Amino acid sequence: MEGRSLLRFLFLLLSVVVLLVITWVRLPHAPLSTASLLDCTLYSGWCSSKNRLQATPHLLQNPQHHTRRNHDADVPHHPLDPLTVRELNDVRAILSSHPRFKSSYALHSVVLDEPDKPLVLRWKKGDPLLPRKASVIALVDGRSHVLTVDLTSKRVTRHEISSSSGYPVMTIDDMTTATVAPLADANFNRTIIERGIDLADLACLPISSGWFGKAEEKRRIIKVQCYSMKDTANFYMRPIEGLTVLLDMDTKEVVEISDQGRNVPIPKAGNTDYRYSAMEPNREMKLLNPISIEQPKGPSFTIEDGHWVKWANWEFHLKPDPRSGVIVSRAMIRDPETGNPRNVMYKGLTSELFVPYMDPTDAWYFKTYMDAGEYGFGLQAMPLDPLNDCPRNAYYMDGVFAAADGMPYVRSNMVCVFERYAGDIGWRHSESPITGMGIREVRPKVTLVVRMAASVANYDYIVDWEFQTDGLIRVKVGLSGILMVKGTPYENMNQVNKEDNLYGTLLSENVIGVIHDHYVTFYLDMDVDGPDNSFVKVDLRRQMTAAGESPRTSYLKATRHVAKTEKDAQIQLKLYEPSEFHVVNPSKLTRVGNPVGYKVVPGGTAANLMDHEDPPQKRGAFTNNQIWVTPYNRSEQWAGGSFVYQSQGEDTLAVWSDRDRAIENKDIVAWYTLGFHHIPCQEDFPIMPTVSASFDLKPVNFFESNPILRIPPNVEADLPVCKPAASA
Ligand SMILES: *[C@@H]1O[C@H](CO)[C@@H](O)[C@H](O)[C@H]1NC(C)=O
Ligand SMILES: *[C@@H]1O[C@H](CO)[C@@H](O)[C@H](O)[C@H]1NC(C)=O
Repeated sequence: MEGRSLLRFLFLLLSVVVLLVITWVRLPHAPLSTASLLDCTLYSGWCSSKNRLQATPHLLQNPQHHTRRNHDADVPHHPLDPLTVRELNDVRAILSSHPRFKSSYALHSVVLDEPDKPLVLRWKKGDPLLPRKASVIALVDGRSHVLTVDLTSKRVTRHEISSSSGYPVMTIDDMTTATVAPLADANFNRTIIERGIDLADLACLPISSGWFGKAEEKRRIIKVQCYSMKDTANFYMRPIEGLTVLLDMDTKEVVEISDQGRNVPIPKAGNTDYRYSAMEPNREMKLLNPISIEQPKGPSFTIEDGHWVKWANWEFHLKPDPRSGVIVSRAMIRDPETGNPRNVMYKGLTSELFVPYMDPTDAWYFKTYMDAGEYGFGLQAMPLDPLNDCPRNAYYMDGVFAAADGMPYVRSNMVCVFERYAGDIGWRHSESPITGMGIREVRPKVTLVVRMAASVANYDYIVDWEFQTDGLIRVKVGLSGILMVKGTPYENMNQVNKEDNLYGTLLSENVIGVIHDHYVTFYLDMDVDGPDNSFVKVDLRRQMTAAGESPRTSYLKATRHVAKTEKDAQIQLKLYEPSEFHVVNPSKLTRVGNPVGYKVVPGGTAANLMDHEDPPQKRGAFTNNQIWVTPYNRSEQWAGGSFVYQSQGEDTLAVWSDRDRAIENKDIVAWYTLGFHHIPCQEDFPIMPTVSASFDLKPVNFFESNPILRIPPNVEADLPVCKPAASA
């Protein structure tokens, strides 16, 4: 009974419930092109929310009108479409009759084995589908097996045992069983009870242990730390400080209990809850009136065959992925002059995350998470909350994944796609009255956003791929969720001596928010007008004029450097030695002779300052530079290595790049790392307001001229809907 009530509240329960979600009844394809989202006409002026719900309920994703999709009959249409429920079932059946899978095994990854890039590039809609294969990673007797399952011949066509130091992404089962395993140990129970905590109030987290060269070898281990959930849903704010259980993940055996910090009180539960239902009404702040986007003629995008997104001048393939979250492939933009689609990016995805905490003490030093390769960034993506995670006009896409036993399951509403009009300006110019011309030309900026949000235990990551009609792609990462905090005897800063190192900020009585970094590394296989591209660093430097040359003594001059090999493209950003980073197609020039290109435009970011010899940093060495460029190699997609869990860092982007291979006029992949330093502050308690940072992929001499010159401005008659009540 006690065990059951414990389980009921464990943080992973949500994931488990979601895993078991039965498939939903819904139209398999999105009839977005013709459907009118709202039934508001030019003449009605007003529209009530009642109208909206009656208009096209299948498109409205509010909780009352939640429609569900059935994926049992899904069939693949495009060579990059993810494995369907039927295909996953086939994989399971094929493996279960394979001699190596007679004993117990766990499938840690079952995804489409994407056909070779040239085949995909040649494939056109209407062609026969390319042969379907599954790429499988299974753990059998403690070893990682890598298999290819051919779904046509129904045979295993490749079978290798990995020699990597690391292990595959944990399964949800690994995480769930780890959180309850310490209860099998009487010493664990005793220390919990001695600390005055009821075992029924325990919530435990599975914490990847990193690699520090001793206990972490030759077996899969995990560390478990626990919290008290008494009187709050936000158990993260009530750490049982200093208690760390080292577990063997496969045998579930408790290897070691580090029982320190008994002098540290459990922080109080008061003011930690963040659920709306648990809040007193806010009388101090004037609440906002409802707001939403109206699309009187319906959305402007379509999603063909489940995964092919078409919007304005863009088209691309979109799919959920258990490891990276979402994968954007075959991104093409239509040229405004020729009308032809032009290749921009073959594939873009979140390759790895690295989250080192900055506290070297016993219960904290190992917290150096790699959320994609250890936890599965997509596996941790929970269903999005309609109207709040994404606006009303959003379309939702489900993920179809395989559980550890190979059973397919549906992660509903995992990704949303919507058009955004945030009141921004696409371009503008108005003429001063002195010209007497009376010109005022402005174009509104409407964009298309693809969004997913992963909740990796306490933290939430929001990843947006935003497409603009001017050709720009903005990749934005938002951080929210709950801090990982440390218990402390201190209740006020006046108790803290100068020489005490808190490793963070006192956020509340007995609660320290520990300093940490977040790095999110993106894989960007750019194919600018074709696969063969070059990476060009355009340096902007101060140039001094010669004596008597000019009244000026200095100006800035741009100099282009084409990277010959990988090491030429290991880039650390420098504010006072600025550069642009172009991916160009050297064999395709514009009318006036510039190579067509796209540039990687960094935004606010943070550099990794850790010692390169620090064990976590060896594993996280892919964050040593902000930009890298490698030659395309289909086995180099995961910046921290294919097998990240407990890996020793021998298979990272940094290792590949140090091979210094030729990258000029070749099929190349750019990598960009977005970084955040986080010194927590009181506003982050008990849950963090979102902080965001982004980078852009921006056309540079890609178009002959402004590609959105001919888009029309907004006029009143096009926007008849919903007068604002207060100002009407
Ligand atoms: C520890 O406590 C749990 C919950 O009460 C119980 O199920 C378990 O059997 C206990 N473990 C031991 C070794 O007594
Ligand atoms: C492709 O990547 C794998 C893994 O890093 C490596 O072993 C192989 O040598 C690479 N091939 C080339 C041509 O660089």
